[in-house]
This record gives sequence, structure tokens and C-alpha cells, in this order.
Amino acid sequence: MSQLSTINIGICGLGTVGQGVWKHLESARASLESKLGVKLHLHRASVRDLKKKRAVRVPATRLTTDPLAVATDPAVHIVCELIGGTTLAREVTLAALRLGKTVVSANKALLCAHGPEIFAAARAHGGHFFFEASVAGGIPIIKALREGLVANRFGLIYGILNGTCNYILTRMEREGLGYPAILADAKRLGYAEADESLDVEGWDTAHKASILAYLAHGAWVPTRAMLVEGIAAITQADLHFAREHGYAIKLLAVITRDFANGELFVRVHPTLLPLTKVLANVNDVQNGISVNGDVVGETVYIGRGAGQDATSSAVISDIVDAVLLLRRGNAPLPVPVRQHCPLAPLERVRGRYYLRLDVKDEPGVLAKIATATAHARVSIASMVQRPSARRGAATLILTTHESNEKAIRATVARLTRLACVLEKPLLLRIGDFAG
Ligand code: NAP
Ligand code: HSE
Repeated sequence: MSQLSTINIGICGLGTVGQGVWKHLESARASLESKLGVKLHLHRASVRDLKKKRAVRVPATRLTTDPLAVATDPAVHIVCELIGGTTLAREVTLAALRLGKTVVSANKALLCAHGPEIFAAARAHGGHFFFEASVAGGIPIIKALREGLVANRFGLIYGILNGTCNYILTRMEREGLGYPAILADAKRLGYAEADESLDVEGWDTAHKASILAYLAHGAWVPTRAMLVEGIAAITQADLHFAREHGYAIKLLAVITRDFANGELFVRVHPTLLPLTKVLANVNDVQNGISVNGDVVGETVYIGRGAGQDATSSAVISDIVDAVLLLRRGNAPLPVPVRQHCPLAPLERVRGRYYLRLDVKDEPGVLAKIATATAHARVSIASMVQRPSARRGAATLILTTHESNEKAIRATVARLTRLACVLEKPLLLRIGDFAG
């Protein structure tokens, strides 16, 4: 605890999020200061390019190109790491924590890759690490899992965790556009990562899923141990089929835990979600998370998942928590003690599936496809044929009865080997979630 009358904040990275934090902290300063009983001072900030035009006015004397100078400045009490990536951001974070400082970060990739090291450094040196903005933008899901739902065990958590992908899928369906044009808009609006492949290939969602799985189960699941698929292969044919049959396609993170055997499974994939589910109707840049606790039942959280303002809201809430910690010693509940959870084998991950195949339009093809699925012991529930853009070809869309990941992968492998199948089939999961 300290008797400081002013808390100095250092911001490493004044891009989309950093400028939003600067802007909203300035405009909310009087109200926050009166609530907290302390002055908040934006002491210093770092950028890569001093000449770049920014939407916030920061005096030149308070800007540097050296984020480590901000992180290690003895006058700075709270360091906001808003640079991104896992190299420089890790150095900055660890340097500040090793000096016993409090770090606020929006960096899910960093936490997923180096979470144990970061929390260990914070513990060892009396520092603290806050990360509300790392998952689901403005939704306070970290606080909900860490504090509000502390009485619960979580058999199922699933959610839309990437604003860029939800924005793309929503506009593809609404406007019939292809995803590259919409991705350009997502970048312009500040939703996408500096490396947008992290968004569209599912890795950003996987980083966030890893953080939620850790908070819910104490286990760090690396992305290499997850099933991770992105949205790049989704076409208008998939979106039309889904809508006609009562589904929306959403990129979901799904975290399941079987408490009978302890097994955990974390996966990220586009999912046909029944329109009766709340999350199927969460659109544009919004994120949505369904958390099923054994005591509370299902709780659902919806809000803007990316962009300057939503993310700044979460960062500023962490800054306020950091001030309360520094001034009054109000620490949040500690993060979970790290545990080992066995990961579920593929055959125990069950569900119904959707397959889209481009095939030669000739006699006997349907029989070959039915035989290939039967060999893998997957039972077809429905099959529809649509015209294909390819000459002499047809598009087939199959749904299956309940099967499992091992069997459906074997099916896809068999189908891909058939001469009448013109390219690797698209496999999507159908989200029959109980919660
Ligand atoms: P951004 O717009 O690319 O901003 C990054 C900032 O870091 C820029 O100010 C950049 O300087 C600075 N920077 C980058 N490399 C640097 C280097 N080598 N040395 C010094 N400064 C460097 O990124 P952002 O969208 O604000 O995202 C920041 C973090 O928040 C990331 O971890 C991201 O995943 C996370 N996040 C973003 C959102 C969102 O909606 N954008 C939401 C939640 C979380 P210049 O400005 O001079 O280039
Ligand atoms: N690129 C991320 C998204 C930013 O679109 O969700 C928020 O974490």
C-alpha cells in the first residue's frame, strides 16, 4: 500500500488500443480521480515511429522509441503493454514485473505463449499482471471467471472470441461479399491484428481460448494441442445452407471438461450454430461467451469484442484495479495454481458434422461417397446437391449423425482420396451445445 498522491502511468505502444486508452483516460480523468481519490498522470509513452501522425496529442518530451525505458522508469507505477507480439512485449512485461511494477496488457498472444513465466515473475517480485482486455474486448469475462463465478466448475465454455471473424462472417452473409474485401474494412476499423492471419486462421481465438481454459481449469493448453481451424474456406454456399436449415456459421472456441475423468479439450473452428442459441444472433464485431457453471448454470456475455473503444474500456478497468491495489492493497483473487489436466483423445470429442464436397457430376458418385463414409463408420443424416461453379461438377452438402473427431477425420481422408472428389472436402462442426 502507498500514500502516493499521483499514480504515473506509462503506455508502451500508442497504436489503436494505446491511443484509445490515452484518449479515454484523459476524458474520464476527473471522474476516475474523484472515485479513486488519487491523481492519474499519463507520464510517458513509447512508439516505434515518432513521426507518425496520431489522433491523440502527446507532448514530444513524453514520447520515446524505447518501450523498455518506459517499463523501467522509476517514476512509472503502472506499465501498459500495448505493443503486441511475443518478443519485445515479453521483454517489456518481464522487465517491469521484475522491478515489482504492475503491468496491464491486452496481449493474448503473449499470455498464451508465456503465461506461466509472466505470473511467476509477478509472484517472485511482488508485481501484478492484469489482462482483462486480452479476451473478448470490452466484455469483462476475465473478471467474471476469476471472481464472479468463483463458486463454479465449468463443464462447457463456448464463445465467439474474435471480432474480426465475426464481422467478416456477418457481412459475408448479409452482403454476399467475399472475405478479402471485408477483411480490409476490419483492418481499417482497427479490429484486426497487425498480422491478420492470426484472426482469420483461428490463432487469435486459440490464444484467447487458452487464457479462458487456464482461468477455468488451471491448465495452460498450448495451441499445438488444440484443434484450430479458421474461416478462410467458408463460402456463400455454406452460409446459404446454414441459414436455410436454421443455423448461423460462427467461429467458436469450445472448452469442454469431463469431470468424470478430468479430461479437457480446447478447440477452435467454424460452427453451424442453431439460430435458437443466443450466440448465433451475435453479429458484426460483437463477441459472445456462454459459460456453463455447475452452480450457476448458463451465463452469457455479449459486447464489442475488438476495436479501440471497447478494448480501452477493458484496459482502463485494469488500470483502476491496479490503482486500487497500489493505494489500498485490494488485490484480485489470485490466478489459479497451475494444474495438469489430461487432454481428451479425439474419439471422445463427439458431435454432428457438415461436409461440403465438389464432385464429378456422373453416375455412381453418390454410392462411392456413401461407401467411404460407411467405411469410417460415419452415418449420413442428409445430403443435398447444388450446382457447382466448376464445369461437369456438382456440390454436395452432407450432414452426419453424431460421430466423433477421429471417425470424421478418417472420413475426410477417404473422401479426399476418391478420384470423383475434386478437392479436399470442407468439414464444419454442428454446435448442438446443451448449455
Ligand atoms: P497497433 O495498432 O499495431 O499498435 C502497436 C503499437 O506498438 C504502435 O504504437 C507501434 O508504434 C508500437 N510498436 C510496435 N512495434 C514496436 C517496436 N518494435 N518498438 C516500439 N514500439 C513498437 O496494435 P493494437 O491494435 O493497438 O494492439 C495492441 C495490443 O492489443 C496487441 O497485443 C493486440 O493483440 C491487443 N488487442 C488489440 C485489440 C484491437 O481491437 N485492436 C483488441 C484487444 C487486444 P507505431 O505506432 O509507431 O507503429
Ligand atoms: N483482432 C482481435 C479481434 C482484436 O478481432 O477480435 C481483439 O482481441
